[in-house]
Amino acid sequence: MSTVLITGASRGIGGELARQYAADGWRVIATCRDPAQYDGEGEVHALDVTDGASVAALGKAMAGETIDLLINNAGIYGPRSLPFDALDYDAWGEVLRTNLMGPMRVAAALAGPVMASQQKKMVFISSKVGSISDNTSGGSYIYRSSKTALNMAVKSLSLDLSGKGVITLLLHPGWVQTDMGGTSALIDTVTSVTGMRAVIEGAGAADSGRFFNYDGTELPW
Ligand SMILES: NC(=O)c1ccc[n+]([C@@H]2O[C@H](COP(=O)([O-])OP(=O)(O)OC[C@H]3O[C@@H](n4cnc5c(N)ncnc54)[C@H](OP(=O)(O)O)[C@@H]3O)[C@@H](O)[C@H]2O)c1
Repeated sequence: MSTVLITGASRGIGGELARQYAADGWRVIATCRDPAQYDGEGEVHALDVTDGASVAALGKAMAGETIDLLINNAGIYGPRSLPFDALDYDAWGEVLRTNLMGPMRVAAALAGPVMASQQKKMVFISSKVGSISDNTSGGSYIYRSSKTALNMAVKSLSLDLSGKGVITLLLHPGWVQTDMGGTSALIDTVTSVTGMRAVIEGAGAADSGRFFNYDGTELPW
């Protein structure tokens, strides 16, 4: 049986990832800031990706396990629509701790169980708004920059881990109807997760370190 570990599984895209992988027969290790909030299948562990002690505790709990697929999904948007001359720098720090440093910390803590697995895949949920060449509308300094930086960090990670056989992917889930995406978003979580699961399933070594849309289209940096 294959094993997937998902961060931010309490709701939204993470909740649907847990539901679909469990329905497909995977062992699901869900992680949530508050495990009591998790009402899905599989086992649940407490994890706040901004808290080094919390990440270390999960790493300790997973020592000796194998994780075929690690999905770094947890993320926040932060304050919206702030102009460049009125940015909230404390909030920016929190978004970077969550969206950039959090996934890297989790990847480092769980690299051993991933490398010990059959599939050896690490997926990072990024966003198209982190693409520099796709930025034609400006604004969203805080969230955009967190995902751009994540893309760069994960590109380095993919190169550093390629010799270990790890396949590392950056995925844009689409504009998805969740608390973050809002009700005007273009697709639901089922469509997003169904698409991303197919991209993950089909990914091989040649795809490592690349940035894909949920429908499999490659995205520009
Ligand atoms: N929705 C979209 O249109 C869209 C588009 C592009 C990219 N994304 C990305 O997709 C991912 C999932 O987004 P979503 O739309 O499902 O958002 P969401 O509905 O707001 O859910 C966010 C999830 O992240 C968790 N989380 C936040 N901070 C955390 C922390 N410090 N430690 C652990 N978990 C934390 C939340 O847990 P709590 O329940 O404890 O708050 C929740 O489970 C994010 O990385 C987001 O940036 C979303």
